[in-house]
Amino acid sequence: MLLFLLGYILCFRDIAKLNNCFVDAAKVIKTIHGDSYECVDIYKQRAFDHRTMRNHLLQHKMHWISSLKNSKQKPKSDKKFGFLWENGVGCPINTVPIQKITNDKLLRLNLHFDKYKPKGSWNFTNNQNSINKIQHHFAVARTKKGERKNYNGASMVVSVNDPEVKYPQFSSARMHVQMGDDFIQVGWTINPSLYPDFKPRSFVYTKAGKNQCYNSMCSSGIILVRRDIPLGVIRGPPTVRGAKPSAYDTYRILKDKANDRWWLEFGGINIGFWPSKIFQQSFANDIEWGGEAYTASLPGPQMGNGYFPLLDPNYDAHICNITTVDENYKIDGMVKNIETFSDNNHGYKVYEDLDSGLPVGHIIYFGGPGIILKKDKKIM
Ligand SMILES: *[C@@H]1O[C@H](CO)[C@@H](O)[C@H](O)[C@H]1NC(C)=O
Ligand SMILES: *[C@@H]1O[C@H](CO)[C@@H](O)[C@H](O)[C@H]1NC(C)=O
Repeated sequence: MLLFLLGYILCFRDIAKLNNCFVDAAKVIKTIHGDSYECVDIYKQRAFDHRTMRNHLLQHKMHWISSLKNSKQKPKSDKKFGFLWENGVGCPINTVPIQKITNDKLLRLNLHFDKYKPKGSWNFTNNQNSINKIQHHFAVARTKKGERKNYNGASMVVSVNDPEVKYPQFSSARMHVQMGDDFIQVGWTINPSLYPDFKPRSFVYTKAGKNQCYNSMCSSGIILVRRDIPLGVIRGPPTVRGAKPSAYDTYRILKDKANDRWWLEFGGINIGFWPSKIFQQSFANDIEWGGEAYTASLPGPQMGNGYFPLLDPNYDAHICNITTVDENYKIDGMVKNIETFSDNNHGYKVYEDLDSGLPVGHIIYFGGPGIILKKDKKIM
């Protein structure tokens, strides 16, 4: 009994070194913030239920980890993210952390799901007057429609902010990659229907045909490959307005020709992929960077940091160092072919600056208080 206890204590004390004594036994692990994740066998992720994946799975069972090593998408960093977890390591080998979501939550998510799904801005117009009907708001910079290109990738560096949101609203800062009618969105969101609190958390949203979902919640969801990097993890600390930004996140979406997958790189690390055949087409047409807010009623939630931009990185929510990758894999760090769009600039505004004089590349400032009045009143 004593020996057992002693072993137990040792095990907890040296948890980081003695991975196996704790992790292998656990199916559910917790982040340092107390969120529960289930460690799911890599090949039992929901995306492997997708019809295009059934054969893929058999053919590629061992292949895709090794192809990762050989491909262009080789991880640029060996950095480990054990520090995100209570157990100091993450999930056991060959499993990945999937957010535990209660049936209750799924039900609620589906209840207002249709209207509430993330969108691109292209179907919306400037200063839409039927404001009561419009529930999605955008303050974004996006590639110009007339100059359609075929993109193989895009990236951004996004400041982490904490706009005020009320259930069941959401407010996101994201990159949106449109492929025909399908798309991928990545960034942070404050979304109390999806997550348990009002903090900025990372998210991925996939639309592929009739299938669409957050993170790994459906068979078109992203296939995770890291055992130590969860989706939905709290980002931050959120930037204090007027001070130097305290937190940035880097996201890149890049198609790997070698294995025909779209990869998501987060902080320079490949964390997951989508087989490109689940999408209608194999390239992206349009990219968009900026804020998206959803509300069922007025006033809307804040976007960015809740203020209209002053064109100063220390005062504004922003996305900088944007890039696109063209059909020949040439990286464009200028991205001159963009336009700004806000569907209602009484609530949300956006500006872009290609020539700020700061080492931020092409920068997009966005945000606003979300107070949208019917009359053309100016709100500051
Ligand atoms: C615009 O709306 C139509 C009809 O609802 C939809 O089929 C299409 O995918 C939308 N386009 C974009 C770019 O969101
Ligand atoms: C943006 O890119 C520049 C130059 O490549 C780099 O110095 C800077 O640190 C980047 N900014 C952020 C916030 O990552």
